Amino acid sequence: MLNDMPDKPQRSELPEWKALEAHKKQLENTEIKDLFASAPDRFDNFHLKHENLLFDYSKQGINADTIAKLSDLAKACDLEGEREKMFCGEKINVTEGRAALHTALRSPDNDPLIVDGENITPKIKETLERIKGFSTKIRAEKKFTHIVNIGVGGSDLGPYMAYEALKHYSDRDINFYFVSNIDASHLMETLRLVDPEKTLFIVTSKTFTTKETIANARSAKKWMQEQLGKKDISEHFIAASANIEEVNKFGIKQENIFPLWDWVGGRFSIWSSVGISFCIAIGFDNFNEMLKGAHSMDKHFCEAPLDQNMPAMLAMIGVWHRNFLKLPAISVTPYNQYLSHFCEYLQQLDMESNGKGISRDNISINYDTGPILISDTGTNAQHAYFQTLHQGTTIIPCDFIMVAKSNHQIEGHHDILLANAIAQTKALMDGEASEDPQKSFTGNRPSNTIIIDELTPYNFGMLLALYEHKIFVQGIIWNINSFDQCGVELGKTLANKIVDFLKKDIIETDTDSSTLGILKHIKDL
Ligand code: F6P
Repeated sequence: MLNDMPDKPQRSELPEWKALEAHKKQLENTEIKDLFASAPDRFDNFHLKHENLLFDYSKQGINADTIAKLSDLAKACDLEGEREKMFCGEKINVTEGRAALHTALRSPDNDPLIVDGENITPKIKETLERIKGFSTKIRAEKKFTHIVNIGVGGSDLGPYMAYEALKHYSDRDINFYFVSNIDASHLMETLRLVDPEKTLFIVTSKTFTTKETIANARSAKKWMQEQLGKKDISEHFIAASANIEEVNKFGIKQENIFPLWDWVGGRFSIWSSVGISFCIAIGFDNFNEMLKGAHSMDKHFCEAPLDQNMPAMLAMIGVWHRNFLKLPAISVTPYNQYLSHFCEYLQQLDMESNGKGISRDNISINYDTGPILISDTGTNAQHAYFQTLHQGTTIIPCDFIMVAKSNHQIEGHHDILLANAIAQTKALMDGEASEDPQKSFTGNRPSNTIIIDELTPYNFGMLLALYEHKIFVQGIIWNINSFDQCGVELGKTLANKIVDFLKKDIIETDTDSSTLGILKHIKDL
């Protein structure tokens, strides 16, 4: 039930929110480049460094007062208290009655962590040991040289993205494939590439009820049985799932099931058994390095004061854009080909978490939440959507992610890559006047720059945790539950009904004429 009771105030009614609205008016005529002109050392005061990550937010149209006011808002929303609740395993995912403990998966601590009366620490450590043992065996034996992960959403985007991101560290004698789409072409085109004798399917699904994944897994099983001419092909299938009963029904052996738990959200599950495919690719030591990097960001997030806190600052600047400058979209551009799948991963992480209009206490909220995220790698994105960033009528704030040291030395390449990224940040800010109106650039377009020293598993772990916590902070400020995804359910339910019409001859007549027209058109072809 929607609650419009006046005793549950909107965030926008907080005095700290109103102070930011007034502050925005004061800054209205401030140009970002003028802030640099009046304080040449601006960079010194408007960047943060945590280990191998640098976060430069000096090219934002903000001053110290903006940061103080944003911090006041975050505090008024009890960010610090909510952060504590998340790390302690309180059920902050109120809609689903679950904790959100992805951070526990990367914690080296052996201290007990109690969820529903059970200490989860031993389960995490035991599962990590199993992942270690299994991945080491697969890498050593080479009995399987084709590994196919079947999953969708967080059970695909995370491992696929991480596999690509850390490919430099991967075992090139094993081939990895990621099948997610129910479109048969995805599975069929993959099956053409693998040798059934040497193929291991990893069915990755937290719920093990996701239609696309189960359909793909069943078809893969049937294909394997046909190819090998035998019914028992169980050694070719393992699963990462929280639904052991359903995995058993599918026919995967107990020793081949790697668990995860309901307190790990799908899009935050890369740190769990869901990561087993790319753990095989990069080896457990590298996987563990990634966990360590993420843990380092967790510690920083918990300990640094808000104005020195990288995830909090990234988030608060996003709130400034969305709620006070009223900007609907953001662009995140990693200037690194290994991060090419970071884009889709981040879209799910951000938009599935924060694309919501009902508050945690069931109020229909009267302010904007998660932005539209557009993303592609630089420099490719420059040749696709950057025209809009420079001259479009909507200002789209950007995150530029650069990797300072390349994994490859081909003369000239890396300098050109980095020069492009840096030039974009400057062009967006400075703009350029021209007598030809078509060639003028207004400038004053804000951007953040994140620089990673080198794309190591450790640094990569830090980067992912940075964005995870950014999204958490924004969810708290917007008073929404970042850990559910009720919005994806309606379409799934309707698809279940429509699939029946496609299979049968009868079509429901009381549906709208568009839906009916589409169905008839397809069936008549
Ligand atoms: O898109 C909805 C969703 O529930 C995601 O949150 C999740 O990552 C994905 O489906 C896959 O879910 P599962 O891992 O249970 O198959």
